[in-house]
Amino acid sequence: MIKIEGVRKSFGALEVLKGIDLTVERGEVLCLIGGSGSGKSTLLMCINALEGIDAGRVEVDGIDVHAPQTEKNKLRQKMGIVFQQFNAFPHLTARDNVALAPRRVLGQNKVETLELAEHHLAHVGLGDKLDHFPSELSGGQQQRLAIARALAMKPDYMLLDEVTSALDPELVGEVLDTLRLLAEEGITMIAVTHEIPFAREVADRVAFFHQGVIHEVGPAKSLISNPQMERTQEFLGKIL
Ligand SMILES: Nc1ncnc2c1ncn2[C@@H]1O[C@H](COP(=O)(O)OP(=O)(O)O)[C@@H](O)[C@H]1O
Ligand SMILES: [Mg+2]
Repeated sequence: MIKIEGVRKSFGALEVLKGIDLTVERGEVLCLIGGSGSGKSTLLMCINALEGIDAGRVEVDGIDVHAPQTEKNKLRQKMGIVFQQFNAFPHLTARDNVALAPRRVLGQNKVETLELAEHHLAHVGLGDKLDHFPSELSGGQQQRLAIARALAMKPDYMLLDEVTSALDPELVGEVLDTLRLLAEEGITMIAVTHEIPFAREVADRVAFFHQGVIHEVGPAKSLISNPQMERTQEFLGKIL
């Protein structure tokens, strides 16, 4: 489980996270929504220690993420992260892109990692693209490759930051379908998204960010259909 308590984070004079409290249980899907600059990406970075925090505490499966003695690389293996912009190795095929980290980081042998890569690529619907290079894949296929690469590390948690935002509208659905499948399989996910209907359908809970605070958090369906706070109503009114 991920436990976030009183997390504060500033960049220079700008306080970006102003006391975040949030708990994510195993198997839960939590969607983070909110306007640009409200701190959603920063929170994901603080969860897997890509950014430090100024106050508060982040705990993942009982481990204090920001404690000096915590092995950050080991901790990050628990959490797959996928960003808006795809960052595959251009000179490697889809299969090799997925196989690389398990081989390098987990020390699995080559045959084993290639077989696993095929399995994970088939899982995200890319079983027929094993030997394609990233440049030979559509944006939606590239994002599914990024998801397969994250899954190959057998993470306990997936952190997803607007993974469909850079895609042409007709490619969004195939990536959301992949995430829906993972959610059904019980992977714990924290997903920043602007796809409100997706959040409503797939998430267990939704948290609405506004200017560095969680303004409202609750069960996905009720928060989206019947937001209680004026700012949430305003945001959803604009985006829907
Ligand atoms: N590395 C950084 N250095 C300075 N300012 C940053 C950095 N990362 C984010 N910010 C600022 O923090 C605020 C929150 O950013 P972010 O977490 O990316 O918001 P969101 O993901 O909700 O759009 C923004 O004002 C952004 O410009
Ligand atoms: Mg962001």
